[in-house]
Amino acid sequence: MNYIHFESIDSTNDYILKNIKYLKDKTVVFSDIQTKGKGRNNRIWYSPKYENKYNLYVSILLLPDFKEKNIKLLQNLPHYNAVILHRVFLEYGVRTKIKWPNDILFENKKIAGILCESVIFGDKISIVVGTGVNLNMKPFQIKNIDKEAVSLSIILKKNINRDDFLKCYVDKFFDEYLKFVNFGFSSIYEEYKENFAYLAGDKVFVIDNLGETIEGKYKDIDKEGHLVLNTDFGDKIINVGDVFNKIKS
Ligand code: BTN
Repeated sequence: MNYIHFESIDSTNDYILKNIKYLKDKTVVFSDIQTKGKGRNNRIWYSPKYENKYNLYVSILLLPDFKEKNIKLLQNLPHYNAVILHRVFLEYGVRTKIKWPNDILFENKKIAGILCESVIFGDKISIVVGTGVNLNMKPFQIKNIDKEAVSLSIILKKNINRDDFLKCYVDKFFDEYLKFVNFGFSSIYEEYKENFAYLAGDKVFVIDNLGETIEGKYKDIDKEGHLVLNTDFGDKIINVGDVFNKIKS
């Protein structure tokens, strides 16, 4: 593993994307703050530090050999990463839930988010797995986030050592990475579903990639990692989108 640390960077994902030609497989880039942290769907990922206490802003570069299965692998890496983060929180005694596709919640409040990006050059695929974890966010900082959020330090009522959390995460990520590459989503399917934030029948709203709101009841996660929603017009399988339990105003 090759670690690169910054005190400040625009975005750890962007650093990798800009320097991809010079970086090795499994490079881990982390920063104390990000000045332009990116969230999913062009949202901002608020990325401060507080005194000398840090949140986690980390990106992992993966350069797998290009094979047909890597496209599927790419689709399910966010799910894999979500399961890994769930396991890391368990090590801290905290049972989180996974909100499709890859938000990590504690008591319905967001504690971590994942942004996977990829670049294809000829027959090579480069994948960046970006993870932001609210480790030491203070309540006054949480207020700057536009949705309900929480930090591990607020839950455990103590400061969290960012570097210990990072090591635990990276070790767990690579412990089962080969298994995931070989067996794909099936290697984590049960664990993903067991720790899912919704129960079958829960009413949810999904904003899909076209900005349309779809209303329905959560039914299942299929074997590809898609969301299966029971709507008035029958079951709908959703590949991309954001889930909410109430309509966004
Ligand atoms: C989301 O839930 O919207 C995804 C948030 C991903 C944030 C992380 S922080 C490290 C990496 N660098 C970024 O600019 N974004 C990701």
